[in-house]
Amino acid sequence: MKFFIDTANIEQIKEAQALGVLDGVTTNPSLMAKEGIKGQDNILNHYKNICEIVDGDVSAEVMSLDFEGMVKEGEVLAALHPQITVKVPITIEGIKAIKYFSSKNIKTNCTLVFSPGQALLAAKAGATYVSPFVGRLDDVSSDGVELVYKIAELYKTYGYKTQVLAASIRHTQHIIQCTDAGADVITAPLSAIIGLVKHPLTTNGLAQFIKDYENSQK
Ligand code: E4P
Repeated sequence: MKFFIDTANIEQIKEAQALGVLDGVTTNPSLMAKEGIKGQDNILNHYKNICEIVDGDVSAEVMSLDFEGMVKEGEVLAALHPQITVKVPITIEGIKAIKYFSSKNIKTNCTLVFSPGQALLAAKAGATYVSPFVGRLDDVSSDGVELVYKIAELYKTYGYKTQVLAASIRHTQHIIQCTDAGADVITAPLSAIIGLVKHPLTTNGLAQFIKDYENSQK
């Protein structure tokens, strides 16, 4: 099971990296905008900075909607750093681009996936990762975790190597549910990752141990 952090915030990426359990980063244009990163040169620099902080894959999204544009952008992104994974939306043009990148050994993350059929096409095209958006499905009264389960089963049945990257994770419980569902990777906000540590019995137990130890020193 790999842990990615879903942010473009450098401080949070550093904090997650310092935990020693971080395997990569996913970003998207909205997360970049949230950090105030403007202009293509600054965007590319920001990706490079992120790659220098973490050891694993860093998803950087293409903005073109046509095959030629996606390929052009993706090649620029991939040349930035060996850790860059080109993030491509699941569209007809996106599938063609994933197939192209796969033939060039460029890693891809097929994004905005909301159905098993989309995930099937992404795997057939050779995507490195497929990103089902769990929280956004839950938002519309659908079952995001069930989609992760269905994709994981489908890939197991047919032996696809594409890794299931559970995305749009909103809280700690989503992480646990997605591990149960067979996700290979979880990308989550720092708060959800840190939430895994928390348990009231741990807090109370630790307080009692400290109290008993202190009494034993008197
Ligand atoms: C995935 O790669 C996306 O960046 C992300 O998980 C989307 O999450 P959201 O639905 O919280 O925006």
